[in-house]
Amino acid sequence: MRWETFESADALAQRAATLLLTAIRADPRLVLGLPTGRTPIGMYARVVGECSREYHCFRDVTTFNLDEYAGVPRDHPASYWTYMRTHLFDHVDVDPGNTHIPDGTAPNLDAECARYEREIAAAGGLGLTFLGLGHNGHIGFNEPGTPFDARTRVVELTPSTRRANAEFFPDGNVPSKAITMGIGTILESRAIVLLAAGAGKEDAIARLRAGTIDESFPASALWKHDDVMVLCAC
Ligand code: GLP
Repeated sequence: MRWETFESADALAQRAATLLLTAIRADPRLVLGLPTGRTPIGMYARVVGECSREYHCFRDVTTFNLDEYAGVPRDHPASYWTYMRTHLFDHVDVDPGNTHIPDGTAPNLDAECARYEREIAAAGGLGLTFLGLGHNGHIGFNEPGTPFDARTRVVELTPSTRRANAEFFPDGNVPSKAITMGIGTILESRAIVLLAAGAGKEDAIARLRAGTIDESFPASALWKHDDVMVLCAC
């Protein structure tokens, strides 16, 4: 695990955007795993800025998002589908048919999870996956206690995760479930970049850095992977 630390969230975002675009230039048919949350917004803004100057940035790229709320319609302002369109997809030349986000309103969520796994496999697996870090160490929506070999599935969100995301649901209807790629799915990505920043993340970052691999702290699974970079504003 390689660590890079930054004095500001802006500097971290710039580095993350550079890593993402460098990877696309090296492999224009890259399969990306993409996160949501507050942390990656700056990365996406910089990627969009660069791509407005660069022809065919995302033309042959395929993307898979890490997660989506269950029961939240795609056009809901807080859905990750809306997030990705707002922050990235509407502003770059990605083929919408090559963008994948779990459908949290599918009639059979378990079947949707299995379908998502098959789509990742059919795309040749994840090449480079960016992750955020939850206050409790979650990656995607894999909450503490998740087995490290878990696949894409429906999960219950912990009260702390629901509180952390409550501001996006002003009507108070914060979802209690989500679909998330599993830790096992994420670990099969050939390379991983974790973005570790944000208020109140100090304990989670210190726990990750300490290096104890334990299912009570999901991000510690990343120590088992041999190509992980942590970008830390800490
Ligand atoms: C959400 C997302 C995660 C994200 C985490 C941290 O729960 N499902 O993928 O990494 O929050 O979000 P933030 O960057 O807003 O702190």
